[in-house]
Amino acid sequence: MLKRGVLLAVVFSLGACGGVDPNSPLGKRKAIFKEMLNVSEDLGGMLRGRIKYDEALFVEKAMQLDALAKTPWQHFPSIKEDEKTSARDDVWQQQERFQELARELESTTARLVASTTQPPLNESVLALRVQSVEDACESCHKEFRAY
Ligand code: HEC
Repeated sequence: MLKRGVLLAVVFSLGACGGVDPNSPLGKRKAIFKEMLNVSEDLGGMLRGRIKYDEALFVEKAMQLDALAKTPWQHFPSIKEDEKTSARDDVWQQQERFQELARELESTTARLVASTTQPPLNESVLALRVQSVEDACESCHKEFRAY
């Protein structure tokens, strides 16, 4: 029974990915979010010892994340445009709150970048900054993303 449930879940999630046009607003914001996840996982990974800490690479990825953090929002049209979205209807009904959390993320990534401008970098400060970026992702997802 359990096995069958898992299999069905896999089939459904494959189906959901397959139907998204990469040039649609949904396709574009999904691609950006995935990229943000990759970059933020690399930053966290370097500080937590999952991958090798490389200061120059860390600085570069922090800037990359800061640039990316400004870009998903323009790909949310003012009216819900795609039934395949995993954004909750609240994204469109609570625009102000959604934008507020978007600005919050942008300020956490800006602070992260600010902490990388003066060598030698302090890894425990960086860890706090990365943590607040991750918290900003999570608090928006809690309110606005349907899993
Ligand atoms: C202001 C709100 C907000 C913030 C901040 C935010 N997200 Fe999201 N995220 C969303 C919403 C809404 C979706 C669903 C998008 C859709 O399906 O239309 C989403 C979807 C995603 C997805 C799934 C993409 C896919 O393939 O379906 C990933 C991965 C993701 N976000 C990563 C992140 C990461 C990493 C951060 C922080 C660095 C972040 N998000 C910050 C709102 C946010």
